[in-house]
Amino acid sequence: MAAQLGVQDACDCRKPAASAGMTAWVGRWLQPRALAGVATAVALGIMAGPALAEEAAKDDAPLKPDLAAGQETVEDVCAACHGADGNSTISANPKLAGQHAEYIRKQLQDFTPPEDGKPAKRASAVMGAFASSLEPQDIVNVSAYFAAQKLTAPAAASNAELVELGQSIYRAGIAAKGVPACAACHGPAGDGMPAQYPQLRGQFAEYTTAQLVAFRDGARKNNHPMAEIALRMTDPEIKAVADYIAGLRPEGGTPEAKPADAPKPEADKKDEANKEADE
Ligand code: HEC
Ligand code: HEC
Repeated sequence: MAAQLGVQDACDCRKPAASAGMTAWVGRWLQPRALAGVATAVALGIMAGPALAEEAAKDDAPLKPDLAAGQETVEDVCAACHGADGNSTISANPKLAGQHAEYIRKQLQDFTPPEDGKPAKRASAVMGAFASSLEPQDIVNVSAYFAAQKLTAPAAASNAELVELGQSIYRAGIAAKGVPACAACHGPAGDGMPAQYPQLRGQFAEYTTAQLVAFRDGARKNNHPMAEIALRMTDPEIKAVADYIAGLRPEGGTPEAKPADAPKPEADKKDEANKEADE
């Protein structure tokens, strides 16, 4: 029997992320204390900005996001494909609204081909070019901007016959093949988790399918557990779970999703309700 790919074994991100963050935190905390000089602290660039712990807890990158600059870059460069607010209407182009900033940043780095001529970790002719054109500060800005947008036009599940299989894979995995439940990492409603797992809900089924196939075929080499998972899935299983994910909603994933062109006020209301429930 295939080994069960459990969350603990499968995830290579939880612990390293936490310990790397911790090391940076301890380093930043100790330095100014040991040196105990205001001039030194200013020289190290640690006086301005949020408290050390607060900054380090958010991420390890010293760059601070500038939302207005992010919006400008998005309007100039990204909006044509992803929508000005990340609610893309073209299924080949993923919706980015509300996606976690850390995840977006990682993707933009992974799309960028390294200078040694090796292929990018995540191959995409289109995004390779756009990602390479961004400075590190731009990446931080656009990631924060898209993360701050609302997914007001989620995609919808389209195939009632696939819903049962899709839901069962999403919630329980495929035990016989050692496929873990998607919900274990991406959450029961597909919200993901900042800095660890991307939001999936409301994404175009075509895009989700393409990504799972890319993980399986090796075109997307930026996450080993996801490749392992996709390798264990057949095309019909991928299609079913992708369709279910398109219909997932914040309140827990009714497959009978609203159509993508649902009137905005409704979608906003739902989003508000979810936000309140979250807080
Ligand atoms: C010409 C259309 C086009 C433009 C312009 C464009 N993108 Fe993309 N983007 C795509 C496509 C297509 C993909 C899917 C790539 C793949 O298949 O992996 C994508 C994927 C992405 C992803 C990965 C999303 C995920 O869920 O993993 C991010 C992040 C992204 N784009 C950000 C940007 C940003 C930021 C800009 C502007 C600087 C931008 N894109 C401009 C077409 C575009
Ligand atoms: C062990 C944790 C884990 C499990 C279980 C898991 N995933 Fe993932 N998944 C991830 C991580 C981490 C990423 C981000 C990879 C990266 O850095 O690009 C990801 C990325 C994805 C993406 C790409 C999203 C995008 O916007 O491009 C899709 C699609 C996806 N997972 C679908 C699934 C499905 C479907 C299942 C269940 C069959 C599943 N995942 C189970 C951890 C997991």
